Amino acid sequence: MSEILRVPVGLGARSYDVLVGAGALAAAQSRLPDFFPRGRAIIVTDRNVAALHLKTVSDRLEAAGLRADPVVVEPGETSKSWDGLEHLVDCLLDRNIERSESVIALGGGVIGDLTGFAASITKRGVDFIQIPTTLLAQVDSSVGGKTGINTGHGKNFVGTFHQPRLVIADMDLLASLPLREQRAGYAEIVKAALVGDAGLFGRLEAAGASALEGDVLSAAVAAAVAFKAKIVAEDEREAGARALLNLGHTFAHAFEAEAPKDAIRHGEAVAAGLALAFAYSARRGLCPAEDADRVAGHLRAAGLPDGPGALAHGDWVAERLIDRMRDDKKNRDGRITLILARGIGRAYIDRDTDETDLTRFLETLLK
Ligand code: GLY
Repeated sequence: MSEILRVPVGLGARSYDVLVGAGALAAAQSRLPDFFPRGRAIIVTDRNVAALHLKTVSDRLEAAGLRADPVVVEPGETSKSWDGLEHLVDCLLDRNIERSESVIALGGGVIGDLTGFAASITKRGVDFIQIPTTLLAQVDSSVGGKTGINTGHGKNFVGTFHQPRLVIADMDLLASLPLREQRAGYAEIVKAALVGDAGLFGRLEAAGASALEGDVLSAAVAAAVAFKAKIVAEDEREAGARALLNLGHTFAHAFEAEAPKDAIRHGEAVAAGLALAFAYSARRGLCPAEDADRVAGHLRAAGLPDGPGALAHGDWVAERLIDRMRDDKKNRDGRITLILARGIGRAYIDRDTDETDLTRFLETLLK
């Protein structure tokens, strides 16, 4: 077992730890019985994750004197829906879950968001533990308590803030993750660094492609989680600073909405969005062009898209992307809100974006 890093998320009585490293699950074993006073642990997971990791997690629970009781749902975003939520809540009620018990979310962002939401409303709220099995979920969705489902009106338009009691980010669970998914998750680490941790960005840049491996990756996950924990502790419900974590995401959501289903990964869209946020900040004279070049350079080194042209789908139309950006949840008074940067590690919320200028920028770039 390599060193396990403990990152606290400070939210008063609702504070919790994120345990990061290869072997984090084993390190958490002695803590587990506290969450399951009835001796059984309901694990929500999907069919794909169950095949890979359910036995490992069940064995660990057994070693802690607990019985695993799995609920296996269909993989993919369709489970993150009203129907999926109803099904899951019914499964929890069928098991006669009590308020004293926690539920384990074992999987990627879909499972974490869905399980967290179901936990927050079942019997007016039960606790839950996140065991993320993708890098993306480890560094972003498993921490901070955002839960939810998608509806016809948009992704994550219905949900709650419900903090987990513990997050176990065991790097061993990533061993089977395809490189493409690993890279896509890494984009959120780069994002955290670009928002507010220039030192982390420098370390990632120095490591180049090896930032995606071994102890360097564990340390980067812990640093990104620590950065997110600081922001969440300051602004749990996104009244201000937490919106900074959306750096690159306004562009990314527009790419994802325009691309055919499953053509691009969320993290790939985020990477292209990060490059664009810096390129646009440089164009507006807000940040040095050199910083935008460094961002694009590191994304390339990590095997990530350094702009829309490098995404696996290429048919972008500036006007259509702008239309998508008008639907963003961050917008206020009908104006597009962007997260821009005054330099690496110096992101800020920009409410002064001129749509005509942004359209021209995109048109030039997409030519
Ligand atoms: N993924 C952004 C947040 O948790 O606020």
